[in-house]
Amino acid sequence: MQKLKTLQYLSGFGSEFASEALSGALPVGQNSPQKVPYGLYAEQLSGTAFTAPRSENRRSWLYRIRPASVHSAFRQISSEGLVSSPFDRVITSPNQLRWSPLPLPSQPTDFVDGLVTIAGNGDHTVQVGMAVHVYSANISMVERCFYNADGEFLIVPQLGTLRLHTELGILEVAPQEIAVIPRGMRFRVELLEGASRGYVCENYGAAFRLPELGPIGANGLANARDFLIPVACFEDLEGKFELVAKFMGQLWTCEMDHSPLDVVAWHGNYVPYKYDLRLFNTINTVSYDHPDPSIFTVLTSPSGMPGTANIDFVIFPPRWMVAENTFRPPWFHRNMMSEYMGLVHGTYDAKAEGFLPGGGSLHNSMSGHGPDAVTFEKASEATLAPHRIEQTLAFMFESRYVLRPTAFALAAPELQKNYQDCWQGLKKNFTGKNSTTKNVAGKV
Ligand SMILES: [Fe+2]
Repeated sequence: MQKLKTLQYLSGFGSEFASEALSGALPVGQNSPQKVPYGLYAEQLSGTAFTAPRSENRRSWLYRIRPASVHSAFRQISSEGLVSSPFDRVITSPNQLRWSPLPLPSQPTDFVDGLVTIAGNGDHTVQVGMAVHVYSANISMVERCFYNADGEFLIVPQLGTLRLHTELGILEVAPQEIAVIPRGMRFRVELLEGASRGYVCENYGAAFRLPELGPIGANGLANARDFLIPVACFEDLEGKFELVAKFMGQLWTCEMDHSPLDVVAWHGNYVPYKYDLRLFNTINTVSYDHPDPSIFTVLTSPSGMPGTANIDFVIFPPRWMVAENTFRPPWFHRNMMSEYMGLVHGTYDAKAEGFLPGGGSLHNSMSGHGPDAVTFEKASEATLAPHRIEQTLAFMFESRYVLRPTAFALAAPELQKNYQDCWQGLKKNFTGKNSTTKNVAGKV
């Protein structure tokens, strides 16, 4: 294995990249020469149909020591907490739900074994919908790799820095950063700071991309140049390796006599990437009210309906609040879209307490929610001077499809049984007079 130096990255979202760990390993001017330099094998990894339009088409060419097909037969293994569609094993209620953070594992647990599913929707077999997982791990994956044929992984670390060893190279991702591992790409997770925890959005649908900017213009929100892609870095290792696959909702394992991370050079646009959420260019009002939270969208996975996402990944970062004559926290609302929220650190401006870093909340389609009573009282009386919301990073996985909690999530002791209480203190402030039964029509 090559000695690790300070990690280098390429940059740009959706670009065509090329990288070689050995000089001259990348074929010039063609993809599949009769003999590849250094005796490597050429292999294409397609993330879209060959015939997808250019704007959608994602594929990379990998030049590797052995083809990906060199492994033993897969056999199914138990997937414990990792659940896939259909999410119909328990009835979904309209209740607003909130969980405290899950505990860190007491037994040796790596990233894959530490995944548990909180909720999901759609159908991975037809590439629609998503799943929300949380991971908690305390050991690195060693001589063990994983890939997911059911969807891509958006990883949101909450505790501990991860070093993601992928076929295309190495990414390090810390809290306040995210990483996306494309469908099918093999990787292993090394923990750099011991026990680690975070969130995973498994996207069954169209790959994440940057949202359209409309009248915002050519720049803003997450800028394409800030997305980082690894450079080629290979392992020429022989021994006993395990490859775990998530395929059709089940986990499968097989053996390999070499490391699957043996890609010496590659080029293409189907790549893993990372992004520092602190670089997000936050846009908000400079007059009154505040825009819908879609203004905070980092990445989106479109569905077939224009403007209606399979998933939006949205953040609530530190920012200035300057709105005049405005109730500044998020308003009370009921949405067609369904929302799973998590908190990386700090507090969220709609909840005074109970929504904790590493925890989560779920507000499904048309279920009313908004600031708790304490926050409402405080914000209604606040002096509306400009102030900066600091030390916070909340996020949302939002979907057009109802997110159905799993049996595990509904039975977990971390499910807060009294969540609805946070709104019960909202007092009747109505100052109208007269009439117990009359309305405008009744007066006529
Ligand atoms: Fe909401």
